Amino acid sequence: MTRPTGSELMEKIVALCKRRGFVFPASEIYGGINGFWDYGPLGTQLKNNLRDAWWRDMVECPPLGPDGHPVSIVGLDSSIIQNPRTWEASGHVGGFSDPMVDCRESKARYRADHLLVLRPRSEETDLFAFLEGDPGPALKQAKKVLRRAVSEEDFVAEPFTGLDPSERGRVWGPDASSAGTLTEPRQFNLMFRTFVGAASGEDNVAYLRPETAQGIFLNYKNVLDTSRVRPPFGIAQIGKAFRNEVTPRNYIFRSREFEQMEMEWFCAPQEAQQWFEFWTEARLAWWRSLGVQEGNLQLRRHDADELAHYARDGAGTYDVEYRYPFTDPGFGELEGIAHRSSFDLEQHQQASRTKLEYFDPQTQERFVPHVIEPASGLTRGVLVILCEAYDVDPSRPSPEIMRFPKRLAPIQVGIFPLINKLGMPETAEKLYLELRSRFVVQFDVKQSIGKRYARMDEAGTPFCVTVDGDTAEDQAVTVRDRDTGGQERVALDRVASYLSERFATA
Ligand code: GAP
Repeated sequence: MTRPTGSELMEKIVALCKRRGFVFPASEIYGGINGFWDYGPLGTQLKNNLRDAWWRDMVECPPLGPDGHPVSIVGLDSSIIQNPRTWEASGHVGGFSDPMVDCRESKARYRADHLLVLRPRSEETDLFAFLEGDPGPALKQAKKVLRRAVSEEDFVAEPFTGLDPSERGRVWGPDASSAGTLTEPRQFNLMFRTFVGAASGEDNVAYLRPETAQGIFLNYKNVLDTSRVRPPFGIAQIGKAFRNEVTPRNYIFRSREFEQMEMEWFCAPQEAQQWFEFWTEARLAWWRSLGVQEGNLQLRRHDADELAHYARDGAGTYDVEYRYPFTDPGFGELEGIAHRSSFDLEQHQQASRTKLEYFDPQTQERFVPHVIEPASGLTRGVLVILCEAYDVDPSRPSPEIMRFPKRLAPIQVGIFPLINKLGMPETAEKLYLELRSRFVVQFDVKQSIGKRYARMDEAGTPFCVTVDGDTAEDQAVTVRDRDTGGQERVALDRVASYLSERFATA
């Protein structure tokens, strides 16, 4: 068994994550709910570790700025539900939408900009729609309609949105049994609506936040008035965001409830370009620092027609992109770094009639700060870490290993007695009690030592410590390295410092 690629790799990762308790479909016993996922014991720990790494490296110990001095970033935890006027001013009520197409027959709903059609090269006949990356069902339909064997080379793939409206009647939807069932594309707002309080009238409508960023803009003045930060500075927030995605897919890549890690960097307008470049490079370097392979990451600048409404006045947006198994050999978004200019603060200043200018006592200048925003998905980041970690070592009896970087591993150390007698469990438990205040440790006595190693390999545990028959005599244990499978004899009273040294160089 070698490490698979593409859809086979994705299937293996999803299966391992389910089997080992990283990620479960939400409401599984009721048949699930599309676009929602639950994180199990290992997944929660992994997600928390990635969250904590971001917080540590962005808020508590942020990078040095272009002048070599530390930059200043403070934290925030704002409400998921804010006054609905927030979302009118931010442009989300009017502009946060995706083009959507319904199938009148199957009732399925598709993102129009994710739909492609197969157009036969040799004849003017029907067209067959499919979701990008998955032409299989469309080829099956084409085979049936054209009554002959077909392959992808017999067709040209074109965007559905680029079709002449007169051709739409000839398009077979991905799940349809006849042509012409797809509606015209129309805009669909992605915000989840709810009602605040007992009444359910339009006056009580509120929205679940589709990004954590707006909570930061609403508190920009509070932070400025109550702490010692002054532009340039950042406010960071990690939390849930909700988008009623038309087609959630690719596992936890695009879900309807997810978590973001966002930082809004407030600076003088004339410095914004320099900070935009600084944060773009810093964020790419951060993902690399977590061990994401260089060749699996790239920066891509948005084309003008892709820019979000808030980034149109700025100098643009960069995406840090990752080569996901389902985009391979192409790349997909992991994080966006947007130059939002003063768009959001100006909008909120105008709508709330609250002055959000900053007066710089040194230069005697008054300005509404410009904002550079590195906006990353925490749950999407977990997917990247899972994809990077998954490996296969055919020489092991259970070949699947999660090679998490030590900093992110959900369990850091496994501790086992080789057998459950001759004082070994007692010594192992004593060691477990000594180590658990310093490391995330799991004590495991069940099944053979080989099976326990295999379980820890799948959980991505960097080190396993085994108390064996010699321990009573030599006062030493065996430490096994997940990645090499190599074993080292370490004195019992040195295990803690041995592990500390290994984790310090993670
Ligand atoms: N405040 C800017 C903003 O929200 P975005 O590019 O829409 O920008 C930022 O989102 C990041 O949030 C994305 O790069 C992605 O990692 C993550 N994200 C966005 N939509 C998502 C979804 N439906 N499911 C999972 N992650 C998502």
